[in-house]
Amino acid sequence: MRRAQQLGRYHLLDRIAFGGMAEIYRARTFDAHGTPHLVAVKRVLAHLAEDDDFIQMLIDEAKIASVLRHGNIARVYEFARAHGEYFIAMEHVDGKDMRTVLERCRTKKKPIPAEHAGYIAAEIGAALHAAHSAVDSRGRPLRIIHRDVSPSNIICSYAGEVKLCDFGIAKATLSRVSTKTGVIKGKVKYMSPEQALGRKLDHRSDVFSLGSCLYEMLTRIPPFTATNEMDLLIKVRDAKYRPVSELTPGIPIELEQITDRCLTRSRANRYQTAAEAEGDLRVFLRKYMPNYSRSHLGRFIRKMFATEIERELRMLEEYVMADDVSEDVGESLMIKDEDFEPPEVPFQPKPTSVSIIAAREASAGEARDDFSGDSNFTTMPKVEQREDIHQQNTVILESGRGRSAPPTSPPPGRGKGPTKPPPPPPARAPTRGQAPPVKPIYDDDLHSAPTMIIDIGRMKRGRS
Ligand SMILES: Nc1ncnc2c1ncn2[C@@H]1O[C@H](COP(=O)(O)OP(=O)(O)O)[C@@H](O)[C@H]1O
Ligand SMILES: [Mg+2]
Repeated sequence: MRRAQQLGRYHLLDRIAFGGMAEIYRARTFDAHGTPHLVAVKRVLAHLAEDDDFIQMLIDEAKIASVLRHGNIARVYEFARAHGEYFIAMEHVDGKDMRTVLERCRTKKKPIPAEHAGYIAAEIGAALHAAHSAVDSRGRPLRIIHRDVSPSNIICSYAGEVKLCDFGIAKATLSRVSTKTGVIKGKVKYMSPEQALGRKLDHRSDVFSLGSCLYEMLTRIPPFTATNEMDLLIKVRDAKYRPVSELTPGIPIELEQITDRCLTRSRANRYQTAAEAEGDLRVFLRKYMPNYSRSHLGRFIRKMFATEIERELRMLEEYVMADDVSEDVGESLMIKDEDFEPPEVPFQPKPTSVSIIAAREASAGEARDDFSGDSNFTTMPKVEQREDIHQQNTVILESGRGRSAPPTSPPPGRGKGPTKPPPPPPARAPTRGQAPPVKPIYDDDLHSAPTMIIDIGRMKRGRS
């Protein structure tokens, strides 16, 4: 048995990734009924947690991301600090990110079939359009730009859902982790030319990046590659790439045309909205494979990762909660101000029913949407779930997937046995006493500012 480390409302289980700015864990938490849920917790790396400006940027971005509610966008629940750690809690998408899928395809020398590529790109197009056109409660455009539409932020669930992660977080991240080799290079590959030039961005930048992802799904190689960052930047800036049909003969011409139209250097000649790209992709899909549904994608992903799915399920069963679960849920950093009402976080650290009234309200529909869009339940026990909430995403995978996890409440007396800690969530000392001051959410500069990651001077000197 492994003991989960508590962080605010969440009990960290296995670490699923280690990125440039954070470690990502699967974590267990409980709703007002005491029903367990899986979420993803992104814990900010220690050296970045000491950077006030960086934390402030993350708060700003998390606030904006938290207002987005869309079936193709992984929902952000909160950005908080607990036990001296900063973290973002978000919807856990039970599946594999596109980077991992592509790696597997490359190793196995297997293509991603055109229908899946088209469908995934269409779903991401829908996510982007929802974000690009999001408005605040007073109808003012939020002008959200993702800025990091890349395979690692596209997750395909085992049920065949497609979700885009990390809205806006890229802006904060790119400005801070630029010195770390590899991190930026990974991101530059999917940038738009205007982004690589450090220009002011609009939503069409995301359309270009969507094109880069689609290109890679169709050809298994990114449109722009180079051995060093400088050359990569130049390639992205020039937006010249080998035709899709040259790399993948026989690819439907419509898909190639859609990819090309996303990957157009001039913004004016690109699709003007993500919805236009999505529309063309749906038209293609209807014609190419009229009976296509997301269960086709689910089956494709599950088949590819059957071994991993088994391992992930077993891993969940290994974890027990600490004996002394703390009531300390930490401090939310998405503080209310005149423009921003933080969404209520529907979780608690203990598997207890908060109150009969809360439960009644929830079942009466008040909290009906709390978990809609979640895809957590393929790996969670099926206890007392409200059918209405989960029907959309609760898909039981064939053999073994319906197996239930062990009791998630710590049975009395249990747990002093041989325990291995989770892969290293070392408790860190509190870094600071005070949260940074809160800025209003609608900071005009926030989204209009250019993404400055490149030292243009250096770039020019490097060339001459
Ligand atoms: N909400 C989530 N649900 C499931 N997996 C996630 C989630 N967020 C991130 N991941 C996993 O963690 C990986 C790394 O995430 P991240 O730290 O954002 O790094 P990157 O900068 O490469 O996107 C993702 O590619 C994905 O596999
Ligand atoms: Mg990411």
